[in-house]
Amino acid sequence: MSSPTLASIRQSLASIDQEQLLTFFDRLDAGKQARLLANIASMNLSAIPGLVREYVLTKPAAHGDSELSPPAYYPADCTSTAGRGAWDRAHFRAKGIELIAAGHIAAFTVAGGQGSRLGFEGPKGCYPAGAVSNIPLFACLADWIIAAQRAFCPAGVRIPWYIMTSPLNDAQTREFFKQNAYFGLDRHDVMFFPQGVMPSFDIATGKILLSDLHEPAVNPDGHGGSIRALMVSGAIADMKRRGVRHISYTQIDNPLVRVIDPVFLGLHAFAPDSSAQMSSKMVAKAHAGEKVGVLARMGAGGKIGVVEYSDMPRALTEAVDASGRLVFNAGNAAVHVLSVEFVERLNGGGGGGGGGAAGQGASMPYHRAEKKVPHIDLASGQRVEPTSNNAVKLETFVFDALAMCESSIVMESLRVDEFAPIKNATAPGVSDSPQTCREIQTARAAAWLERAGVRVPRKATGEPDCVLELPPSTAMDVESLIAQRPAMDIVAGAKIVV
Ligand code: UTP
Repeated sequence: MSSPTLASIRQSLASIDQEQLLTFFDRLDAGKQARLLANIASMNLSAIPGLVREYVLTKPAAHGDSELSPPAYYPADCTSTAGRGAWDRAHFRAKGIELIAAGHIAAFTVAGGQGSRLGFEGPKGCYPAGAVSNIPLFACLADWIIAAQRAFCPAGVRIPWYIMTSPLNDAQTREFFKQNAYFGLDRHDVMFFPQGVMPSFDIATGKILLSDLHEPAVNPDGHGGSIRALMVSGAIADMKRRGVRHISYTQIDNPLVRVIDPVFLGLHAFAPDSSAQMSSKMVAKAHAGEKVGVLARMGAGGKIGVVEYSDMPRALTEAVDASGRLVFNAGNAAVHVLSVEFVERLNGGGGGGGGGAAGQGASMPYHRAEKKVPHIDLASGQRVEPTSNNAVKLETFVFDALAMCESSIVMESLRVDEFAPIKNATAPGVSDSPQTCREIQTARAAAWLERAGVRVPRKATGEPDCVLELPPSTAMDVESLIAQRPAMDIVAGAKIVV
């Protein structure tokens, strides 16, 4: 490919009203000039005016509320009449284990986010999360894979782990794994690939910002970018070579996430109402105002999707049924299973043989987020650190792929067992901070230990009077902990990795 010339780039930018990207061109050395031109040439310039018009300068209308209804779901208590009613958990667990044991399952973690709310320097997966051990989030998830491999896989069968980074944190992430000896996993079974980026736009004008004199400001293109990145990176081709059929999708921010859950995998692949394309986990909302998206059915008999909390009409958010339960109670746990074939299809492939050839990428809708983005002031050339939102980032969300499924199922999981995401730095009133995450880890370990017959000291308020961490390599679920008949003494104030 020939290098882009200044004249051709200038002309292209003029035609879309984005010439400001060349403001400092004459002040750059030859290397930086070439980088800037190549960078601009790699953007999909013709799409930009439409994106600016549709998402930056206008705020898309909120959701059509009258069309939403709660989804039927497989209740966490499989004997319950809630949701779609009782179901045979043991059967689907056995089917899921068969898939894992046959090498048909891969773990996939999206870890390309910027973690701006947490304010942690570096990839979020490096954040210390173990309530007692302080092991990083990446280590918590790696431990699940090791435990699942040990529990479900015959000798020689592996659970490969694909990790989506972004161009902004890819090198740091790879280095972190190297330094930590891949957290006990075989390095040949851990694959990294970066997601795509989108330009960051000035909130008032729609002009693309500069992050440096020679660099347009960009942001990762959202976890929905994983659909395309899985394909163009060759991850899907690698999965097909290994015989992987289903992808267990999790986020990096939740140390309790069941990275590999045989029950969920079995339901996804074999439930009669699942097309085995993409499935979702829900957790019951903690309270009406919790800032979590909800899984809902879009229109009568329509597809399942996720409505962001900010798009949910207040009347629906607060609606309760006759027994006082929230009607829209299906909090999105951000855990999915996707089939390899579905990801190929979303990328314009037939889902047949081949693999590796990148399609055009799924047409996932963009979502607009107003953020503070540091940038270069065009008049002075100085860096500006904004104190209020000055930019619009455009992201795609993986759950929008649900609309492209033929039919998809929702499985309920219990918050205390599986849901302790770290999103925000500790602050009063925040329920998804490092502190609350540690409290949930302790609460889970305490509840499981008590069911296994261990006495856990509790305060007068009922909370455990200790800090506990129960890694998956000890027990992936309460049943396996009970089977171990743990014998231990926990004294008040203890800090224990069980
Ligand atoms: P969040 O929506 O919580 O975003 O990501 P974030 O970037 O981590 O944090 P904030 O909003 O800046 O505070 C949920 C999951 O999706 C991944 C994140 O790494 C996290 O695992 N993600 C998000 C990506 O992989 N890429 C993205 O572009 C955005």
